[in-house]
Amino acid sequence: MKNFKHLANNISKEDLLEVLSRLLPQRSQFYAKVIVADLENLPHLRRNLTNSQPQSEESSIQNSKIESETTHSSSYVSSFSVEIIKAELTTDVRDTVEKIAIACIKSHQKLAENIAQLWDGFNIPDRLLILIPETWEDLTETIEILTNVAQKTAGKICELGFIQFGNGYFSRCENNDPPTSVFSVASFAASLHLERPKLKIRVLEFDHRLSLEIINQKIKAEFTTSDNYSVAGYNCESQRHQMVYDLAQKKSQSRNVNLTPEDVIIVTGGAKGITAECALALAQKYHCKMALVGSSPVNDEVQNTLKKYTDAQLIAKYYSCNITDLNAVNQLIQEVTTELGIITTVIHGAGTNKPRRTEQVSSSEAYQEIAPKLIGAWNLITALKYHQLKYFIAFTSIIGVTGMLGNSWYAFSNETVDLLLRNLKKQTGTETITLAYSVWSEVGMGAKMGSTKTLANMGIDAIPPHLGVAEFLHWIKNFTDDQQIVIAAKLGGLDTWRRNTYNLPVANRYLEKVEYFEPGIELIVHCSLNRQHDLYVNDHNFNGSLLFPTVFGLEAMTQAASYVTGITNINSVKLEHISLLRPIVVPENGEIKIQIHARVDGNKVFAAISTEDSNYKTPHFSAEITLNHLNPLLNIHIQKILAIALSLKTKLQKVSNPMNIY
Ligand SMILES: NC(=O)c1ccc[n+]([C@@H]2O[C@H](COP(=O)([O-])OP(=O)(O)OC[C@H]3O[C@@H](n4cnc5c(N)ncnc54)[C@H](OP(=O)(O)O)[C@@H]3O)[C@@H](O)[C@H]2O)c1
Repeated sequence: MKNFKHLANNISKEDLLEVLSRLLPQRSQFYAKVIVADLENLPHLRRNLTNSQPQSEESSIQNSKIESETTHSSSYVSSFSVEIIKAELTTDVRDTVEKIAIACIKSHQKLAENIAQLWDGFNIPDRLLILIPETWEDLTETIEILTNVAQKTAGKICELGFIQFGNGYFSRCENNDPPTSVFSVASFAASLHLERPKLKIRVLEFDHRLSLEIINQKIKAEFTTSDNYSVAGYNCESQRHQMVYDLAQKKSQSRNVNLTPEDVIIVTGGAKGITAECALALAQKYHCKMALVGSSPVNDEVQNTLKKYTDAQLIAKYYSCNITDLNAVNQLIQEVTTELGIITTVIHGAGTNKPRRTEQVSSSEAYQEIAPKLIGAWNLITALKYHQLKYFIAFTSIIGVTGMLGNSWYAFSNETVDLLLRNLKKQTGTETITLAYSVWSEVGMGAKMGSTKTLANMGIDAIPPHLGVAEFLHWIKNFTDDQQIVIAAKLGGLDTWRRNTYNLPVANRYLEKVEYFEPGIELIVHCSLNRQHDLYVNDHNFNGSLLFPTVFGLEAMTQAASYVTGITNINSVKLEHISLLRPIVVPENGEIKIQIHARVDGNKVFAAISTEDSNYKTPHFSAEITLNHLNPLLNIHIQKILAIALSLKTKLQKVSNPMNIY
């Protein structure tokens, strides 16, 4: 490559063609695609060739794939909804803890005394159980207990168990049950876990009807696993459940959206950030009248937003109101009703986020941080009690599910708003939607605070605004069996994000070490190739180089496609746009690590193999794979045919002892 300029200047096209025509027959006899690698080293020649001759199949495959490789490493966004699954507890350690204490509010003291001694707040026990209050009136005490516990136990070795009472399903997916607790601290505890990864932290929800004896026994058992963080719920039959997330698209059904130009929508936070983007898109679609609310007076940003409505000939007015003040909210509702008409829908986007470690937050700071989102939601629900709302839509955050380092109170406010809305739906029948986004790029609080960069370092991508808005509109028009939709770009493998995973396919030679797995979305897996394990490479010797054969490359990519899609009962495999850019050489001695990267896009999987030589940056092989499910009935027939074939084979072998018939 050093002499390339010199080469290009001094060798004519004819000379280079001659070199190629010598190389082609020489190499194509054995491994034609190696030529592509040679062509890579002669880019000028390649251009000349493709200018003067019809494109060869190889180069057209190569070019198309180079483009698609770039395309498919760009951003993507997926949506998820919760599933409650039965999960037996597998005990793997002994419980040796002696000093257990309880932190709780006054009304829980009797209950607490039956479980353990009350915590005095000074002596740190080995394990502290925190009883979470259930009613809105207990909000201040809940904040006090949580801040107190976080501060006093900071830097101490003290296991934490957050005990809450509800229906054992975290109020999710069980819409017929009577309203239960308004608080859940799973994401608060998840944030603490991310800040204190070595401590054992449990969040346990018990059905009200369970006896103290069972509760006590289950709490003890939950600490006999080696996980540092886990969340489990026990229903009234003391069956253990866990929350996992699955692709929401699978369960998506269309909603009959009842919004017309007569509808008035109150949009808190609607003049700024991501709420402004989504509210405008909604107005453009349904032509509703929009009341945009923020605590600041009109400024450039607000005016800019209002201009977009004017330009689109839509009706929007801005109202300055501090929504943490109930009187101000009552007044706001009156003003909006007088000026625009009866409010039929709320979009609640107001919120604040002040990243800092949990133990650094006082109870008054915590209250201030959660107020716009949580107290704001409560005030809106209260002030609109006698309005028959069609929809109450809230912008929440994935942090209210997974927690996040330095975000425990932001997490708490998001998880609790989701519960408030579940209760609103149960009590009034209003359709409720909570959209729990991961961070957005370019607009909103994440971009303003620079969190997108910090998160990128953790492997967490940001949602591009156009995709965030598209998901918003999609989930207004569609629904699943749960109110909350988590909308996220690539997540960097947070251990508090629990997915419904798939089983490994039976053929899994190349799926040795999973580096990253988002079932249904993306898989990155590593595998070592060597002469001892992969005997076939000994027969694939080209001029002394042991090459990983194409067919095994395709098998490896298909195995990854099968795992990432969860399609293991395969009827047929379609491989398109196969690209074999560079050979993969297995060393005589030692091994080479390869990486298979598989990404789902609709019905297809884009798979590519790279090697450690380029730090997994350069694709060697790639393909677009479509897997077709095997019809279960057909599967039974095939199993039967295989069984008959097997017995025939045995009989034949007995009769004539022939060579293997397969
Ligand atoms: N941006 C993201 O990456 C992201 C990701 C996930 C979830 N979310 C959620 O999406 C929502 C919108 O976020 P964003 O990024 O667009 O936020 P943002 O740009 O920081 O805007 C926050 C909005 O809330 C309003 N607000 C704050 N306190 C208020 C109060 N007391 N009374 C009335 N309005 C108040 C602000 O208006 P003033 O400035 O006038 O007070 C502003 O319009 C939030 O709920 C957030 O949690 C955002």
